[in-house]
Amino acid sequence: MKIRTAVFPVAGLGTRFLPATKAIPKEMLTVGDRPLIQHAVEEAKVAGIERFIFVTSQGKTAIEDHFDVNPVLESTLVERGKTKELDRVKSLQLGPGEAIFIRQQQPLGLGHAVWCARSLVGNEPFALLLADDMIIGDAPCTAQMIDAYNKQGRGNYTAVMDVPQEHVSRYGILDITQDDGTLVQAQDVVEKPDPATSPSRTAIVGRYILDPLTFDKINIHNFGVGKEIQLTDAFKPMIDAGVPFYGVRFKGHRFDCGTKEGWLEANVANAYNDEAMQPRLLETLKKLNIASQ
Ligand code: G1P
Repeated sequence: MKIRTAVFPVAGLGTRFLPATKAIPKEMLTVGDRPLIQHAVEEAKVAGIERFIFVTSQGKTAIEDHFDVNPVLESTLVERGKTKELDRVKSLQLGPGEAIFIRQQQPLGLGHAVWCARSLVGNEPFALLLADDMIIGDAPCTAQMIDAYNKQGRGNYTAVMDVPQEHVSRYGILDITQDDGTLVQAQDVVEKPDPATSPSRTAIVGRYILDPLTFDKINIHNFGVGKEIQLTDAFKPMIDAGVPFYGVRFKGHRFDCGTKEGWLEANVANAYNDEAMQPRLLETLKKLNIASQ
């Protein structure tokens, strides 16, 4: 079945990035000239996604405005002959009816946010993208995930990467049964385990292809780690119901843009990969005596 819908949970408070995120949604922080949420939407678009569902909360209207048409801005750019800027703004907009917004009324966790989108997604597999996990690489991560799904068939898929043992308590961690180097299969997934008892170091990164059974298996009465309704807790019941769980070792670099350090690294990598910006970046690092070339 074609994956045509993507869900973007954007209701989080962004506490790790305060005070920057006091009045601005964390998803609107920029990497290069685009907000994080724009990077995620573009990644989904090139993977063939046609419906973009944003699970928002209070204080997130900047995201709706960002994907809307801005007639005053557009006519001003036309008047001033700024065609390049106009084309750029237009190329990043979503088409009429492509963007759907729904509110998560309480901050009850990722599982709850996904569950809030249930009636919009319907009975079909869908992509889930966490915008503060930014992935930079040649092949967009969501496209890699959809490729794996198309080859392998029904199942739940997440992007995975190996992390240091002392970091496992920040992630969903796989209990692996099979591993061919690219695709791994798990018999269980544990959210934020203690490093001493973690089943592996293979961690979930914020890209998923999810089976619609997820909506039935997210238990909105079960508060897991951090007293939140965890998406991860829905995977084992699905494995038991015959929906396999796969991890895709994606190609690319993942940056945790929910932290100042990860966001900075993403901006440096983004500038380095941009032909026009790279010389200036290197020059600046040299000037500051940070890098030797
Ligand atoms: C969420 C998921 C976790 C995953 C992580 C990836 O955690 O619950 O399983 O490993 O995203 O970034 P969060 O970062 O929201 O605590």
